[in-house]
Amino acid sequence: MGDLAATGLATASVHAVVIIDALQFAPSKLAVLQECHRVLVPGGRLVITCWQPVEQGDEKVSPLIRDLDLSPLLQEAGFAAVSTQERQDWYENEKQLWLEALAVPDPDPAMVSLQDEARRVLAKRDLMKRVLAVGTTPRS
Ligand SMILES: C[S@@+](CC[C@H](N)C(=O)[O-])C[C@H]1O[C@@H](n2cnc3c(N)ncnc32)[C@H](O)[C@@H]1O
Repeated sequence: MGDLAATGLATASVHAVVIIDALQFAPSKLAVLQECHRVLVPGGRLVITCWQPVEQGDEKVSPLIRDLDLSPLLQEAGFAAVSTQERQDWYENEKQLWLEALAVPDPDPAMVSLQDEARRVLAKRDLMKRVLAVGTTPRS
């Protein structure tokens, strides 16, 4: 597995970076965003899907994301034209997936495992919001 914070890519070598549901695992989110900024050309774009706590610092939320607030963090990493939007529709689709998994009768071992995960996830999902964050590297 590569490291989000140390991609090995050359500086200013890519036009776009997409991080789908992985940023939450990085011990330093800022280090990841700084690495993205480094590898992007001026005017390049970073797009992230992730989760954020509904209430900043909520101790019931995983320590990996309980303090995550992507807009200021993207700005701190040097990004401009930053936006973070909540995607309630993605959240509802995901929730439906977990609910349908739980409704499967006579589950085989794989489905038992998925149902265990569904219970764990649903117990805390309302404490988090699904977000899409975007930032652009300044042109000069
Ligand atoms: C929920 S999966 C999402 C995978 C993929 N982006 C997708 O949408 O199917 C999270 C991924 O993040 C990776 N990951 C976790 N920590 C990472 C890190 N520090 N650097 C790079 N990848 C990491 C995991 O190996 C896993 O593949």
